[in-house]
Amino acid sequence: MNVVLGVGGGIAAYKAAELARALMERGANVQVVLTSSAAEFIRPLTFAALTNRKVITDLFGSSSADEILSSSVEHIRVAQDNDVLVVAPATADLIAKFAAGLAPDFLTTLYLAFTGKVILAPAMNTNMWNHPATQENIEKLAARGNYILPPDEGLLACGTTGAGRLPDPVRIAEAVVSIGHPRKDLDGETILITAGPTQEAIDPVRFISNHSSGKMGYSIAAAAACRGARVILVSGPVNLPAPYGVELVPVKSAGEMRDAVMRHLPAATIIIKSAAVADYHVANPAPQKLKKTPARMSLELDPTVDILAEVGRNKGDRLLIGFAAETQNLVAEGRRKMETKNADMVVANLVSKEGIGFGADVNEVTLVLRTGEVIAIPRATKRAVADQIFDHALNLRLALHARS
Ligand code: PMT
Repeated sequence: MNVVLGVGGGIAAYKAAELARALMERGANVQVVLTSSAAEFIRPLTFAALTNRKVITDLFGSSSADEILSSSVEHIRVAQDNDVLVVAPATADLIAKFAAGLAPDFLTTLYLAFTGKVILAPAMNTNMWNHPATQENIEKLAARGNYILPPDEGLLACGTTGAGRLPDPVRIAEAVVSIGHPRKDLDGETILITAGPTQEAIDPVRFISNHSSGKMGYSIAAAAACRGARVILVSGPVNLPAPYGVELVPVKSAGEMRDAVMRHLPAATIIIKSAAVADYHVANPAPQKLKKTPARMSLELDPTVDILAEVGRNKGDRLLIGFAAETQNLVAEGRRKMETKNADMVVANLVSKEGIGFGADVNEVTLVLRTGEVIAIPRATKRAVADQIFDHALNLRLALHARS
C-alpha cells in the first residue's frame, strides 16, 4: 500500500515520526509531505532517515527553472502514485483550507488532486477543536467522504485538559491499513466474533478464568474489518484496544457472552467463536469477599451453556466457525466438535505446542471443514492466520451452497 503522510504544523508533529515507522512496519510505502510550519517542529531529515525517501516540504521550494517546473507537477505525480493520504496532525488551519478548497502549498494542493482515500487525524487545543468553525469544517470533510479519526481527550501541550490530543500513532496506522486495504471481499458481510477468556466469579474479588489473551480473536476481527465487513466483536476481559472500525461488545462471564452472541446473531452472516469460554461457573458465587480460614475449601461448579452448540442449533444458513483448543488428537477432536455443535468449520489449535496458541503472537492451526477437507495452516502471525481462515471460509461457503 502506498501512503502519503501529510504532517501539519502542530506540537504533535513529532508523533508523525512514530506514525511513519508504524505504517512501514505494517508494510506501507510512505511518502512524507511536511508543511513549512511542520518543518519548524520536526526536521525533514528525521522522516528522510526513517522512510529512506526524499521528504517533500514545499510547492515552489526549488530555485532553478527546471526544478520549479518538475516540482510544480510533483503533487500530481504523488496524488497518482498513492492509495491513501493521511494527515496527522491535521491542524485547524489545514482542516479549514481542505474544507474551503484552498491550495497555497504542496499538501493542500495534493489534497485537491488526490482521488484516493483521505484520512484526517486532527490535533489542536480543545477550544480550537470545539469551535463551530472547526466543527463545521470537519462535518463538511466527513460528508465529502474523508475519514476523520477524532482526537483523544487528555492533557494538552497548552496545559488544558480536553479533546485535542493526536490519537496513538499505532492506532492511526491500524486505521490507515484497514481503510486502505485493497481487498474488500467481505463487503456486505456482518461477522460476529467472540474473543478472549471469560471470568466466572467466585466472590466479588476472585474469579475462575484461563490464559486467553484475545490476540487470535482480535486479529480475526481486524482482518474482517480490513476486508470490508461490519464486525461485531464480543470480547471477554483482555488488554487489547478494539481494532479500527470494529463494534466492541465487552462481556465478563460465559453467561454474558452467550446473551451478547444471541442478541447479535440475527444480524450476522458469519460467526467465528475463537473465545476460550469457561466450561463451568461457580454454582453460588459469594455476595461478599470470602474469608480465609485454615480449613480446606471446595467450590461447587455447574456447566456453562455451550454457546457454539446453541448457535449451531439456530444458525439457519449462516456460516458457523468454531475453534477447538486441544492438547492431543487434534483433527479427531476438531471433527467431533464440528459434528456435535453443527459448525461448518473448526479451527483446531494444538495449544500444547511450544510458541503458539494462548498468549502468543503467532499461531499454527488445522482447519477441519464440513466438506471433509483438512487444511494445515503453517506457523504465521495470528493476523496472517486470520486472513487464511477467511480465504478458506469464503471457498467453503461457495462449496456448501453448490451442494445444496
Ligand atoms: O486468545 P489467544 O491468547 O490469542 O489464544 C487463542 C486461543 C488458543 C484461545 C484460540 O486459538 C482457541 O483455541 N480458542 C478456543 C478455545 C476453547 O475454548 O476451545 P474449546 O475446545 O474448549 O471449545 C470449543 C469451541 O466451543 C470454541 O469455539 C469455544 O468458543 C466454544 N465454546 C466452548 C465452551 C462454551 N461454554 N461455549 C462455547 O461456545
